[in-house]
Amino acid sequence: MYAQMVKSEASTDDPEKLAAFQARIDAGEKIEPKDWMPVGYRKTLIRQIGQHAHSEIVGQLPEGNWITRAPTLERKAILLAKVQDEAGHGLYLYCAAETLGVSRDELTEMLLDGRMKYSSIFNYPTLNWADMGAVGWLVDGAAILNQVPLQRTSFGPYSRAMIRVCKEESFHARQGFDAIRKMAEGTPAQKKMAQDAVNRLWFPALMMFGPSDADSVHSTQSMAWKIKMNTNDELRQKFVDQTVPQIEFLKLDLPDPGIKWNEERGHYDYSDPDWSEFFDVIKGNGPCNTDRLAARNKAWKDGQWVRDGLLAHARKKAARKHAAE
Ligand code: 3HC
Repeated sequence: MYAQMVKSEASTDDPEKLAAFQARIDAGEKIEPKDWMPVGYRKTLIRQIGQHAHSEIVGQLPEGNWITRAPTLERKAILLAKVQDEAGHGLYLYCAAETLGVSRDELTEMLLDGRMKYSSIFNYPTLNWADMGAVGWLVDGAAILNQVPLQRTSFGPYSRAMIRVCKEESFHARQGFDAIRKMAEGTPAQKKMAQDAVNRLWFPALMMFGPSDADSVHSTQSMAWKIKMNTNDELRQKFVDQTVPQIEFLKLDLPDPGIKWNEERGHYDYSDPDWSEFFDVIKGNGPCNTDRLAARNKAWKDGQWVRDGLLAHARKKAARKHAAE
């Protein structure tokens, strides 16, 4: 269905329509599913929203791993609530993507066979409880910086999904910071675990914002269409400026010797992540890529009987309704 949708519009991308469409975007209008849109706009939205949704669902795996091993009942309840939120975020986003003519099954199949991505960060392991704090604080903190501007994105269903997601993300980041603060202010062994988690997750968190602007293939067009509101480097810099004072507040060492306040720029200077590692991870060679996709493939297969049952029920109901008409 998705392939037909895109092909059918290819012939109508005439310059007049494109100019009128761009004028709507520039005027800050919301584009709704039934509005005319360029083929590329639709394709970019399906790619970005689909991968965003996949990130929410795959992102449950590293944290889900620690629900049964939370140190207290309270921490278990908090982590459970957070992981459940992420499932909901994925569903809002799949719903937004479906308004563009792609089915959830198509998107899932493209994830499972590697044609679609999810955020690189979820290909790193979560080794102990300090990682739960660091993931909430750094990963959800980065995701908030990346998602808040998307509340103003030009595509209506995406922008409305983001408003709901962002409300819940702030709880995710707060609970993570609170968890790692307990450890940073705890015993020397706990502080050491907190420091190790920050050291391991700092650069992968910077990679969440995407490659450097020079290597970003989609930014220019995505920003012209207000599918993306900031460049990758702009948001990365915002994350560094916001997080360094928090690391200092926790009395932890900075995870990058290159971090230095630059009075002239009014920002922190910092070292780039290892971009060869980044491109390797998004090509599928990260520490956990195989496990994450195996887990998603297994869940898809194990859930087949539920989908079959629901579909059979829906078909029977439709047949009864048809017979009664
Ligand atoms: N992980 C995986 N792939 C990435 C990536 C990352 N961190 N950053 C970039 N890429 C990919 C892009 O998808 C693109 O590949 P593609 O053409 O096959 O899709 C390629 O690298 C080039 O990157 P670009 O900068 O040109 O791509 P974009 O303009 O799409 O920018 C993005 C990447 C900033 C992630 C943008 O897509 C975006 O803002 N997406 C929506 C928000 C999102 O997905 N946030 C991260 C996950 S949400 C989350 O973490 C859940 C939270 O609850 C924890």
